[in-house]
Amino acid sequence: EKGGFEHFMLKEIFEQPEVVHDVMRGRVRLDEGWLRLGGIADYLDRLKQAKRIVICACGTSWHAALLGEYLIEEFARIPVEVDYASEFRYRNPLVGVEDVVIVISQSGETADTLAALRTAKEKGAMVMGICNVVGSTIARETVCGMYTHAGPEIGVASTKAFTAQVAMLYMLALSLSKGRTMSDSEITLHLRELSEIPEKVARILELDSQIKLIAERFKDAKNFLYLGRGFNFPVALEGALKLKEISYIHAEGYPAAEMKHGPIALIDEDMPVIILATRDNTYAKILSNIEEVRSRKGRVIAIASEGDTEVSRLTEEVIYIPQASGPITPLLTVVPLQLLAYHIATLRGCNVDRPRNLAKSVTVE
Ligand code: F6R
Repeated sequence: EKGGFEHFMLKEIFEQPEVVHDVMRGRVRLDEGWLRLGGIADYLDRLKQAKRIVICACGTSWHAALLGEYLIEEFARIPVEVDYASEFRYRNPLVGVEDVVIVISQSGETADTLAALRTAKEKGAMVMGICNVVGSTIARETVCGMYTHAGPEIGVASTKAFTAQVAMLYMLALSLSKGRTMSDSEITLHLRELSEIPEKVARILELDSQIKLIAERFKDAKNFLYLGRGFNFPVALEGALKLKEISYIHAEGYPAAEMKHGPIALIDEDMPVIILATRDNTYAKILSNIEEVRSRKGRVIAIASEGDTEVSRLTEEVIYIPQASGPITPLLTVVPLQLLAYHIATLRGCNVDRPRNLAKSVTVE
């Protein structure tokens, strides 16, 4: 049942090329920006007219929500707010008939996310869902939505479901842009980039043994810091969450520029810092963040774009991933972080599929 893999988590990480392919199936054709999200087709105009979109979720799905904000604002120029479902439900949120509330949940059963959805409905907002489990409570209670079709996720740490959520949000952002902020040919270009993701993820998966070697060198660290900017900032949060849930090592994710405002005080030779340094508009800034960490003797593990020569001059540990443009990069940069967390945890003898204190589906608050 684990398909020859030692753990479900590893199997699910390796399923990601297929997952991205499946999430696009029947929804995307690479001609003239053809994109059809069946589950929301009847509500698309309403969505495009939303004064504001609010996205609520928990945990890893909340990280996908954050990327949803970045993607929708960048592509469709509709204001988006992201909230933890647990905060939204209890703070008497300002939300009403002009808003669309999107809830994201792999299981479709998370108690806080379900409560956020009910709150939004009571206040008159249109509610839409992005779920993986077909027929789940959240899927049933939303007015419309989309399934991520990632297949059952058994490992408690979410991996392929996250990737599917992000790919889904990418398509949603594009379909909200159609006829408004983007031409069909621009949309086609973005869809083409999405269609190249499965093959690029497959190439990253080939780095598994390199990543395992890095894990061996760093597995005894007591803390890790994850830094990224722009589209890689939510990925830094997700990388840190993966590590802490399955290896029980303390890890924090930060927007790289925030380092100066506090976490830099923690950096010394015992602090590994994972820095997402792919080529985009924040690249030069990220290079100076690497230098700042190095000058305080921090041990940097960088994720950089293939062909990059600057990053390796600054640090010895570099994982090179295929090039891609900024908005789609998270679908690539998250993969080495999943593998790194997996290997560190297994090398420490942790039960990665069933980490202590965690449940796959959090149906109580
Ligand atoms: C992290 C993880 C959790 C879930 C969270 C929400 O790996 O699995 O943080 O993401 O409990 O779960 P869903 O998406 O089912 O609502």
